[in-house]
Amino acid sequence: MHPVTVQQLASKIVKYTGKGDTMKKYFSLFTIFIAMQFIFCSDPKSVPDEDREMINKITADTMSSMQSGMMKVMMEQVKSSGFAKSVSFCSDFAPEGGKNLNLKLKEKFISEHNIKDFKFRRTSLKYRNPKNAPDSFEEKVLNSWNDDEKSGKKAETYIESVESGYRVLMPIRIPAKTCLGCHGTPETIDAEAAKVIDSLYPEDHAKGFSEGDLRGAISFEITK
Ligand code: HEC
Repeated sequence: MHPVTVQQLASKIVKYTGKGDTMKKYFSLFTIFIAMQFIFCSDPKSVPDEDREMINKITADTMSSMQSGMMKVMMEQVKSSGFAKSVSFCSDFAPEGGKNLNLKLKEKFISEHNIKDFKFRRTSLKYRNPKNAPDSFEEKVLNSWNDDEKSGKKAETYIESVESGYRVLMPIRIPAKTCLGCHGTPETIDAEAAKVIDSLYPEDHAKGFSEGDLRGAISFEITK
């Protein structure tokens, strides 16, 4: 949720109370009252604007380096060698394989922003690699996104202010048909790739997706 500053609310109250008939005035004040409860109760440690800007920059930069790096390489690999021979490419994001990008981004963000440490990883309720299983914070947010999506609301990036800094969860969807070759339903998954996947990940949960589905999250830890 975007924070509304007290000044913004105050200016709204002045605007609403300055004109209109009495009913409208009371109705508007009531709406603002409810909104204030929501803002102050659900977001007690609200994120200062400058930190929100930094978080937006860090998450956007991470997404674009993933897209221009690993994702592009994986898509090209799938095109030239097929799904079954490309299974290891999505695992480049795996905890070990993701280390290089993590280190590169950590250095970049520490030099660009006023932070002490940075880490990111992928996670999902329907994980393929058990190392990508969500911790309790990630599980809480992933479950609330599922509830949102069931009621027709799109999952949105979630920021939580913690003692060490921030934890941020950004939704990942299935953006293209290519993902289905290894994450799709029995109709869309590549049969050979499915065999390789089943032998490498006997307890795989990451099949059965369609284009546009919520696949999981990128999880960030920013230490200030
Ligand atoms: C060639 C096969 C293949 C393709 C294509 C593929 N993936 Fe994966 N994906 C995997 C494998 C294998 C893993 C497990 C990686 C690991 O060991 O961490 C995985 C893991 C993931 C994870 C981490 C969570 C988990 O389940 O462990 C996400 C998120 C993910 N894939 C999203 C995508 C998206 C989005 C696309 C399309 C852009 C895609 N994948 C395309 C094979 C593939």
